[in-house]
Amino acid sequence: MGRFCHARAVQFPAAFRMEPIHARFAGLLGLALLTAAAIAFASCSALQRTVVAPPAIEGATFTGNASCAECHTNYSRAFPSSPHARVHRDGSTRGDTGCESCHGPGSKHIAAGGGRGKLIVNPGKDPQACYNCHLQTHAEFQLPQHHPVPEGRMNCVQCHDPHGRDILKPAGFGLGMARLNETCAECHREQAKPQVYEHRALWEGCTTCHNPHGSVHAKLLIQRDLNLCLKCHAQATGANPGMLIIGKIPHDQFVKQGACWSAGCHSAVHGSSVSPRLHY
Ligand code: HEC
Ligand code: HEC
Ligand code: HEC
Ligand code: HEC
Ligand code: HEC
Ligand code: HEC
Ligand code: HEC
Repeated sequence: MGRFCHARAVQFPAAFRMEPIHARFAGLLGLALLTAAAIAFASCSALQRTVVAPPAIEGATFTGNASCAECHTNYSRAFPSSPHARVHRDGSTRGDTGCESCHGPGSKHIAAGGGRGKLIVNPGKDPQACYNCHLQTHAEFQLPQHHPVPEGRMNCVQCHDPHGRDILKPAGFGLGMARLNETCAECHREQAKPQVYEHRALWEGCTTCHNPHGSVHAKLLIQRDLNLCLKCHAQATGANPGMLIIGKIPHDQFVKQGACWSAGCHSAVHGSSVSPRLHY
């Protein structure tokens, strides 16, 4: 439980909290997940109500989701299924101020008749609104290797849909899209393209090996050495337990020469059109 809270490191701005998961997921997910998550959220929000400023708009007050629905029908219709629909402000009804947890208080925007750049925060242009709560994500983007979000060349919404049910999907794509790999394939066609000899590791998603936000290792790798591969490939022999056998071939000498994907070895980690052993 504690691990779950800290691993996610979601922090709530002073006045925001998360309602229990029941309402959102009822009927969508299995009972086991539902129960586990409900407890986790309850304890997370109890533990982590640290003070962080919500997006501020001078002089504006919170007006609630219903006040946005009038003009932003599509977002308001999709939003109840989003994980963020459960976030709300102290004193308001469950989830009622979910829109404003990211966009800031809406009264002045509404009084002005709405409009682009009019007294409302758009976190599509500045991810700070997201970082207010997602401290760990913020930290990941500050690691030496990262997707160029801090540089303003990329944005959270290229990989996450802030309003819809499946947040691990870029905004604006249809339901036919597979989750993780398809998101990456938009920009990294070369690594995601079909191959004659595919590497089945990719079936589990690009994030098996890459941290999508940032990493201390080159190429956003989760680990920089053979351990990246050994979590799926290690096989020891009975006769000589110390020996490293991978794919029935002794690898003791090979692994001394560098990472498994270094030149001359399995450099085609994403699949190959010619080599079943992913050599090139
Ligand atoms: C998790 C944070 C978050 C929540 C909660 C949220 N939004 Fe957004 N909203 C965003 C982000 C990020 C963008 C930028 C999307 C983009 O650039 O594609 C955005 C964009 C918008 C836009 C502008 C779209 C455009 O044409 O550029 C509107 C309108 C909007 N949201 C309304 C709402 C309403 C209404 C709600 C509640 C029903 C809501 N949002 C809840 C994060 C959020
Ligand atoms: C009176 C109608 C109206 C209401 C009510 C309204 N908006 Fe808007 N809003 C607009 C219009 C018009 C735009 C211009 C963009 C567009 O045409 O979609 C806009 C733009 C936005 C944008 C994009 C801003 C930007 O700079 O890109 C966001 C975010 C947004 N609204 C959020 C909200 C939220 C959250 C609420 C409720 C608290 C809300 N709006 C209530 C009419 C309204
Ligand atoms: C007011 C606090 C708050 C803000 C602001 C916020 N989030 Fe969240 N976010 C949460 C909470 C709480 C959860 C659900 C708890 C969890 O899954 O760890 C969540 C869940 C998520 C998840 C899904 C995690 C999962 O594994 O299912 C993603 C992705 C995410 N947020 C991205 C964003 C992005 C992108 C923005 C800005 C556009 C944003 N969040 C703004 C509080 C916030
Ligand atoms: C290059 C695509 C990409 C970008 C850009 C991106 N994310 Fe993510 N994010 C992902 C993927 C993929 C996952 C799922 C990771 C997993 O399942 O291991 C994820 C997971 C998350 C989670 C869940 C917790 C976690 O780390 O697993 C949060 C919260 C989150 N992202 C927030 C954000 C915010 C905030 C931004 C913008 C500042 C952002 N992300 C930008 C791809 C991206
Ligand atoms: C919207 C486009 C976009 C999406 C979507 C995207 N990326 Fe990227 N990716 C980039 C850009 C831009 C860079 C930085 C390239 C540079 O700085 O030269 C990058 C860099 C990388 C790198 C490091 C490459 C290197 O040579 O150092 C890896 C690995 C990577 N992305 C993996 C992923 C994964 C995994 C996903 C899906 C979770 C993903 N990307 C989604 C645009 C994207
Ligand atoms: C089995 C682990 C693994 C998986 C799964 C994986 N990658 Fe990689 N990826 C690597 C390794 C290792 C490198 C470094 C290769 C090098 O340095 O020569 C890399 C490098 C990259 C690069 C940098 C350019 C290059 O080819 O060197 C990009 C971009 C990238 N991967 C994207 C992706 C995408 C997109 C997916 C999912 C479709 C994915 N990766 C799945 C291990 C993996
Ligand atoms: C998520 C698990 C996973 C990870 C991580 C992983 N692989 Fe794989 N790999 C597989 C599976 C499954 C297969 C296909 C079944 C098999 O041959 O074991 C495979 C097959 C291979 C093959 C072809 C074997 C043959 O001769 O048919 C090579 C070579 C390979 N992987 C190298 C690597 C390298 C190098 C890495 C690290 C960058 C890596 N794998 C990481 C799961 C993984």
